[in-house]
Amino acid sequence: MNLCVLGAHWGDEGKGKIVDLLTPHFGVVARYQGGHNAGHTVYVQGEKFVLHLIPSGILHDGVTCVIGNGVVVDLTALFAEIDMLASRGIDVSGRLLVSDKAHLILPYHREFDVLAEARRGERRIGTTSRGIGPAYEDKIARRGVRVGDLADLSPDGPLASAIRENVAARNRLIHDSAMKADDVLGALAELWPRLRPLVTDTSLFLHRAMKEGRRVMFEGAQGALLDIDHGSYPFVTSSNATAGGAATGLGVPPRAIQAVLGVAKAYITRVGEGPLPTELFDEMGERLRETGQEYGASTGRPRRCGWFDAVATRYAVRINGIDALALTKLDVLDGLDEVKICTAYRRGAETITEMPGDTAQLAACEPVYETMPGWKTPTAGITEYDRLPVEARRYIARLEEVCDVPAAVISTGSDRQHTIIRRDTIAAEWFG
Ligand code: GDP
Ligand code: IMO
Ligand code: MG
Repeated sequence: MNLCVLGAHWGDEGKGKIVDLLTPHFGVVARYQGGHNAGHTVYVQGEKFVLHLIPSGILHDGVTCVIGNGVVVDLTALFAEIDMLASRGIDVSGRLLVSDKAHLILPYHREFDVLAEARRGERRIGTTSRGIGPAYEDKIARRGVRVGDLADLSPDGPLASAIRENVAARNRLIHDSAMKADDVLGALAELWPRLRPLVTDTSLFLHRAMKEGRRVMFEGAQGALLDIDHGSYPFVTSSNATAGGAATGLGVPPRAIQAVLGVAKAYITRVGEGPLPTELFDEMGERLRETGQEYGASTGRPRRCGWFDAVATRYAVRINGIDALALTKLDVLDGLDEVKICTAYRRGAETITEMPGDTAQLAACEPVYETMPGWKTPTAGITEYDRLPVEARRYIARLEEVCDVPAAVISTGSDRQHTIIRRDTIAAEWFG
């Protein structure tokens, strides 16, 4: 069975850990959207790896990792990541493939991302400054540069003229920019020989792999609530982080996605601007941030923290067809007197249980909480469900009830082995 693993919240739910954990059951792990705005952390016996562009399955030998057409690729970031892995004994050669249709993030995208944010001032999005939005802008405007275009680097070829036009257009918008098209082209020409062996028609590769019976895991970046269409627009990323993005971002039929695992923290976090209805501005928010080490894996920015938002999670379950949740960071709630779940929002005199589509309306929502007793015995490192304190089990059961989905995986620490897999909650084929 092929499985899509994606974020059910605003990113950083622990997708990296869950993908790495499940990879031994799969032959291929494929990223379908986003770029190096993502930071997916994997701990292997205490050793920390942060993956930005390369799928989080790469740490397992024999697994093929795919960067799909829906991803925007910064080649400098890609090679830095390959080098980081090589320096730690992980060789990607022969098992990392990049789609010829993936769009490139070029230096002018990064420059423009920073400038656009500065110009927005108070209305800034709080992007990761990686050039993600501007690269997708060029893609949609049909002036982007794709990986496969690098095959023709001739000075009067289509790639060179596209880059010249794009640099000239950006330079008109950025008055003090001294960017030169020839420098951009020169850098690409230097990187191409190294990239060429990785480039292929990844849609065809996936088609053949599935035909041969290799199981594919689709790895989402960001989260459902940052999705360009379904997230809290405009405070979103520029791609479809929801399950549908896996089909378009990899060129596989929607039916290839046979199950969806939504990763959600046992509380909630968000980096950057935009509404977060359950955000805690008090000592509890600070406690979650410090205990959960809630600082961005890519940018180091402190993450905003709040109680579990079941309205938002239910929405993510609905739009992605989430079959089960992987509930992470349960251990971060250890030792609290009480824990809260937001089961509805209050907007003026109205109580609502569905996520408003309008972001100003979402920002006006106040959480309606249910309070439950916390647990005093730690859950950290526990690997069997029955050994969790009864209050923690009740909390999980209530989350399952209000989100109307089973919690098939429960994570109690950052390392691979700090995990509970509840095989009784899902079909046997899920994890081999
Ligand atoms: P991703 O972007 O969804 O892959 O998540 P990040 O890697 O950005 O952030 C998740 C953070 O939580 C990482 O530092 C993980 O090592 C850590 N983590 C994941 N699961 C757990 C868990 O169950 N308990 C604790 N304490 N940390 C976890
Ligand atoms: P992973 O995959 C959390 C947020 C940024 C900003 C908004 C737009 O690690 O979960 P962008 O640079 O994409 O244009 O920024 O999206 N954002 C993330 N937040 N986790 C991520 O990735 C994110 N990638 C982007 O903070 O609010
Ligand atoms: Mg992250």
